[in-house]
Amino acid sequence: METDLHSVCVVPMWAVGAIVVVVLALVACFVFCFFKKCFGKKKKSKKARERKGAARRRKAGEEGEVEGGPKLIVGILQAQDLAAMDIGGTSDPYVKVYLLPDKKKKFETKVQRKNLCPVFNETFIFKIPYAELGGKTLVLQVFDFDRFGKHDVIGQIKIPMNSVDLGQPMHQWRDLENAEKEEQEKLGDICISLRYVPTAGKLTVNIMEAKNLKKMDVGGLSDPFVKIVLQHNGKRLKKKKTTVKKNTLNPYFNESFSFEIPFEQIQKVQLLITVYDYDKLGSNDPIGKSFIGYGATGVGLRHWSDMLANPRRPVAQWHTLQPEEEVDAALKAPHR
Ligand SMILES: *[C@@H]1O[C@H](CO)[C@@H](O)[C@H](O)[C@H]1NC(C)=O
Ligand SMILES: *[C@@H]1O[C@H](CO)[C@@H](O)[C@H](O)[C@H]1NC(C)=O
Repeated sequence: METDLHSVCVVPMWAVGAIVVVVLALVACFVFCFFKKCFGKKKKSKKARERKGAARRRKAGEEGEVEGGPKLIVGILQAQDLAAMDIGGTSDPYVKVYLLPDKKKKFETKVQRKNLCPVFNETFIFKIPYAELGGKTLVLQVFDFDRFGKHDVIGQIKIPMNSVDLGQPMHQWRDLENAEKEEQEKLGDICISLRYVPTAGKLTVNIMEAKNLKKMDVGGLSDPFVKIVLQHNGKRLKKKKTTVKKNTLNPYFNESFSFEIPFEQIQKVQLLITVYDYDKLGSNDPIGKSFIGYGATGVGLRHWSDMLANPRRPVAQWHTLQPEEEVDAALKAPHR
């Protein structure tokens, strides 16, 4: 058994020359566990809350209820024979987990460095009414982590929830499918003008307009507004918001915000620009995010440099919105 597993994990020499075959005929697998409901197994880790809510829980338990309502538990245990995406003949895999069509909640496993047979052994919980689950599709995508570039998809699996028996825990290996057709979802673009006056230490940010924003409401268009966060050395200094533009995917703002930033600090400043869909009832959904200034790459860095190279003059630039969690991950990564 041991040796079998080991021999499967060694990437044969021919794989380097036949990488396409390896990708197409990928035999990488996953083990999952699904539970329709979780009946009180998670008590160890939550001692404090346990004591407080003990009486209440006991009562709920007697009535057959589950604390926190129904959930889908997805366990990602391990993968095998992943394709090598890096030049060194290996990959740094991690797995993204989400439910289609809403993609609201996305989870990620930790990155397993240089490992084509990684053991993840991580569990993710989606809180979701049982009645809605049948219409969803669970997606697991394996990516190759790359600190400085785009993360390549190694493969994915999709499981329509109406194709499995949710009453039973499920525990199985699945072959990865090729995910080459998956492209980055378009979230929209935003035009921002930046102006810096070094002598006055004044930065003016004008949120001009956005276009082709992703539709967030099933029924109608979005109600977008923009939040601007100013950070210095990773510390949040100021937060501003535009007004909400109703029922549009191409909002025109032309709203200016000024910040005082002494010249000595301007090199370490970051502007985080997030477009939200305003929601009267629930929480506002982020549509996409962009990040300009210290630690940024590509357009986010260039726009900042252009502003510094043209003091006192407004410099306008379109930015493509990225998924919020990707921008946040880039912000957390150590800067060069
Ligand atoms: C997975 O994690 C659980 C608890 O965290 C542990 O008991 C188990 O041994 C782990 N399994 C593997 C294969 O690492
Ligand atoms: C933007 O607003 C300013 C004043 O707030 C105004 O002077 C300017 O004409 C506006 N720009 C456009 C393109 O409408």
